[in-house]
Amino acid sequence: MKIGVFDSGYGGLTILEKIRERLPQYDYLYLGDNARAPYGTRSFEVIYEYTLQAVRWLESQGCRLIILACNTASAKALRTIQQHDINPDKLRVLGVVRPTVEAVPALTQTGHVGILATPATVSSESYLLELAKLKNPQLIVTQQACPMWVPLIESGEHFSAGAEFFVNKYLCELFAKDAQIDTLVLGCTHYPLLLDKIMEWLNCRGTCVSVISQGLIVADSLADYLSRHADIEQALSQNGTCTYITTESADKFRDSASMFLSKPVEVRHIEF
Ligand code: DGL
Repeated sequence: MKIGVFDSGYGGLTILEKIRERLPQYDYLYLGDNARAPYGTRSFEVIYEYTLQAVRWLESQGCRLIILACNTASAKALRTIQQHDINPDKLRVLGVVRPTVEAVPALTQTGHVGILATPATVSSESYLLELAKLKNPQLIVTQQACPMWVPLIESGEHFSAGAEFFVNKYLCELFAKDAQIDTLVLGCTHYPLLLDKIMEWLNCRGTCVSVISQGLIVADSLADYLSRHADIEQALSQNGTCTYITTESADKFRDSASMFLSKPVEVRHIEF
């Protein structure tokens, strides 16, 4: 049995890469719904419908453990899917918001935390709700929607002057709302591709800010999950393979995936 990993597009590859570094022995099936990305500007109903289709497809391929390597899907669709659409004895679906939130308290000194995410993740308030569950009265959380970042990355424009403009714009807006932020969550799996530009901006500003990228956190959290769920772990096949599937054209995925992965990949096209 393979571990299913899903994202609206390429962002989940930043998570998959870290998971495979941490847990190389397992077999993975990656599904990118590139034809319908980005999800981050869509409504709850559409994100839920698309995510459920992806979960059902991965399940039909034999996955019994699926990681939603997408904050937007985790924020908008995960809870409904867990509560209404799946039988936990047969299928487990995990997200990326909860493990990310758990990493926050250890990093912040001022208690001022910034969340950078898609408009859908911001409007879901998932990060606010999950951080509130930590019952840490010290935390003051400010969100910033970054609607242009995913389209820039999906179109390979993240090194361009346009990307610099929008990194500057959203970070200025966030820090204008709270100048004391010392911990920044990259609450979208695409955003690590803008990390250099984000760090450059923070360095110019001259303050010390911890930036949380999700790959390592999600990988550690999955390793921990498997150590606590021997029944699932023992059912996983261990040949160290990864199969890539896209709803876009295979050629386009192959070209663009090279921005996210160190080696070329074989990919197959499917349609929902
Ligand atoms: N990579 C996804 C996330 O983590 C969303 C990108 C999108 O489709 O808008 O939110």
